[in-house]
Amino acid sequence: MTTIAVLGVGRVGSAVARTALRAGFDVHVAGSGAADDISLLTEIVIPGATPMTAGGAVRDADIVILAVPLHKHRSIDPAPLAGKVVVDAMNWWSPVDGEQDEPDVDDTTTSEVVARHFTGARLVKSLNHIGYHELEEDWADEGTPDRRALAIASDDEDAARLVSKMIDRFGFDSVYSGPLHTGRAFGPGTDIFNSILTREALDAALPTHEFAL
Ligand SMILES: NC(=O)c1ccc[n+]([C@@H]2O[C@H](COP(=O)([O-])OP(=O)(O)OC[C@H]3O[C@@H](n4cnc5c(N)ncnc54)[C@H](OP(=O)(O)O)[C@@H]3O)[C@@H](O)[C@H]2O)c1
Repeated sequence: MTTIAVLGVGRVGSAVARTALRAGFDVHVAGSGAADDISLLTEIVIPGATPMTAGGAVRDADIVILAVPLHKHRSIDPAPLAGKVVVDAMNWWSPVDGEQDEPDVDDTTTSEVVARHFTGARLVKSLNHIGYHELEEDWADEGTPDRRALAIASDDEDAARLVSKMIDRFGFDSVYSGPLHTGRAFGPGTDIFNSILTREALDAALPTHEFAL
């Protein structure tokens, strides 16, 4: 696992990309347009990352991270992401996404809606319940007492394991909550969302556990 593509170079995308660079990954970043559109921003805000188009960024990536406003996920062409491990770091945030048409209102989580668009992608929900700035403030080496933990949900256990390894390199422990629909347990409005929890505390706060990563 050497290359990470980050789609979205806003607050979350930039912080994730810098975190991935610190962890030693090759990092491809893309906004909604041409590579040239983000070349200056990349040079200043994410030095070391390679600006690309979204299609180019994901081509050789081992993991793709979605860091665009949720309502914009359908503007990403799903074809290049088929077969890829894709991390959905997005939340429905009404000031940005609007008050209407929130997908997570009944039995369907936003990640399941996202999964329908990215047909064939190996979707993993994670990185969504930590503030973007905390990614660069709260990381710690493996084995550090009280290391912060992040939750992972996916229907694909191997994809979840790969993301767990990435998160470890990012500087965090992780806890698997179960299939994609269990991501509801760490979405906006939950006790876990934006709480700083160790692996043990997160494990206790999650309602379901299917396997240990
Ligand atoms: N705020 C937090 O601490 C936090 C934490 C975890 C998760 N989240 C979630 O993370 C997501 C991103 O939030 P943000 O605050 O980083 O948003 P943001 O600052 O508004 O940045 C959004 C980025 O998405 C890009 N984008 C839009 N459409 C795209 C496309 N089709 N392909 C590639 N890039 C595209 C935009 O590029 P253009 O300028 O080219 O359109 C922009 O770089 C949201 O779902 C949010 O809820 C937020």
